[in-house]
Amino acid sequence: MLYQRLLRPILFSLWHGDAEQAHERTLGLLAILSRRRALADALRHAYAYSHPALERRLFGIRFPNPLGLAAGMDKDGVAIAAWAALGFGFVELGTVTWYAQPGNPRPRLFRLSQHQALINRMGFNNAGAAALAARLAEPPFPPIPVGISLGKSRLTALEKALDDYRASFRSLFDYGSYFAINVSSPNTPGLRELQDREHLDALLGGLQAENRTQSRARGGKPRPLLLKIAPDLSDDAITEVLQVCAEHAIDGLIAVNTSLSRTGLPGVDPALAAQSGGLSGKPLTTRALEVVRLVARETQGRLPIIGVGGISTPDDALRMLDAGATLLQIYTGLVYEGPGMVGRINRRLAAHNAAFRIQDSEFSKGN
Ligand SMILES: Cc1cc2nc3c(=O)[nH]c(=O)nc-3n(C[C@H](O)[C@H](O)[C@H](O)COP(=O)(O)O)c2cc1C
Repeated sequence: MLYQRLLRPILFSLWHGDAEQAHERTLGLLAILSRRRALADALRHAYAYSHPALERRLFGIRFPNPLGLAAGMDKDGVAIAAWAALGFGFVELGTVTWYAQPGNPRPRLFRLSQHQALINRMGFNNAGAAALAARLAEPPFPPIPVGISLGKSRLTALEKALDDYRASFRSLFDYGSYFAINVSSPNTPGLRELQDREHLDALLGGLQAENRTQSRARGGKPRPLLLKIAPDLSDDAITEVLQVCAEHAIDGLIAVNTSLSRTGLPGVDPALAAQSGGLSGKPLTTRALEVVRLVARETQGRLPIIGVGGISTPDDALRMLDAGATLLQIYTGLVYEGPGMVGRINRRLAAHNAAFRIQDSEFSKGN
């Protein structure tokens, strides 16, 4: 409440209402908090909620809770300790590309406040994979699992996409708890074509080969590789993507990225709705749930899914888990609801899990 009534209006109106500046200042503040142990501890005290019933084990990794920060918020990994202190169970950094790049010209981030939505065409603005690797090599060690999202540099031709992803993967191999292969951002020309069977086959095959090479060289295990898909794929196209994932032993799916669709936005200034880029937030909820349900059904619930898209309340989170997601991520909900939502969702999930566990144990006693 404090966030919506007081902090959000200040954040939204400062810096002349420029959405990206508000984002940059907030991230800057969180980066400072991340570097000061006492401040991060104070943040943890105020926000984080932990409970044993929230713990998840997946890909051989322990997640303290299933709610993660989605890719794009902290592309260069500057505020990991603060995300942990706010109560997130994991964070996905990136999307990073092999070459550092400035992204698209500004303005490139727009608020559709009446729908709790955003349109962005950031275009993978990031400091590059090597810079992220250098940052992650410095102590302190991240207190929560860190996924790293990999994308293609704008400079790199689509036919050379594998080289770009592979170079980033190699340089970051030691630092990612898992890697997300992002072929679904709408803001890098041609990127979504990598979701086609032929391109995807080459990309996933090449990255898994690199995964084996790097893990063998270290005498360790390959890293979990997940694929992030667009909500705009047809159901048939998703089924095909799942086949290619199975052929290459992909460990999980992240569903979904932002959408090019502009349906379900009544009352929005047509000029605003017509801004090019990806739509996120509440209008994405229905399609995100549909895609997660479809993937869970097609894979008989055997492929772990990170459900993302339009989650902003505990009910949204429960619905996404019910649809078949194992882990959750949020981005736009955090902008509109504020950091208190992380604890609110986790409290509700813990209560829900605890209730289920009681039922389970009573069921087994009775049998
Ligand atoms: C400003 C902005 C930047 C984003 N950047 C990325 C990105 O770099 N990589 C990525 O995989 N997804 C990116 N996303 C998509 C989110 O990770 C998420 O999939 C999407 O916003 C749907 O979730 P939400 O409705 O909770 O925001 C971005 C989203 C926003 C709003």
